[in-house]
Amino acid sequence: MRLAILISGTGSNMKSIVKHFPKEVKLILTNNPNSKGIQWAIDNNYNSSIINHKNYENRLDFDKAVHEKLKQNNIDLVILAGFMRILTPEFVSRWKRKILNIHPSYLPNFKGHNAIEMALESGIKQTGVTVHIVTPELDSGPIIKQERVDILENDDIISLSDRIHKVEHRLYPKAINSYMKSVEMGIIF
Ligand code: GRF
Repeated sequence: MRLAILISGTGSNMKSIVKHFPKEVKLILTNNPNSKGIQWAIDNNYNSSIINHKNYENRLDFDKAVHEKLKQNNIDLVILAGFMRILTPEFVSRWKRKILNIHPSYLPNFKGHNAIEMALESGIKQTGVTVHIVTPELDSGPIIKQERVDILENDDIISLSDRIHKVEHRLYPKAINSYMKSVEMGIIF
């Protein structure tokens, strides 16, 4: 299976995924030319692409450019890893059941941006990480894997984010593996 990873920022999940799937990752794409992750991908000779959303008049045109780039590279599975653009329903339906996302909470709790801050401020004792299939509704598609993460007494945003990231780096490759097996077996099609 040919994978594309879409990022906007640091790309720590991207690094973990390319480590686990060195042969399958065929494209690393960003909307953000200043993304640290894309610089790393370029420096490490990955097939990389910058499609700056600011150069497009609307979401549909931007998504079309991304779609074309994915098609040019014969991509089978799109992996969102800190990709900070909301994809249009048109794009999502063209890639139906072929887009995965990782979210830093135990969904359905704390959807949207700032999920880690929201969990911390809510006073609950546990949050988590979720990998799911992307559907048009934000952070709502079928869940592939989830893991709980404890919130400790003295946690601040940095310590909790660090602990969540460690879980993400382990959970995302596992979820991709499960997804690929399910496709092979015809469970996801
Ligand atoms: C992760 O916390 C992920 O859950 C969220 O965006 C963050 C990306 O971090 N969707 P990184 O760029 O992979 O370091």
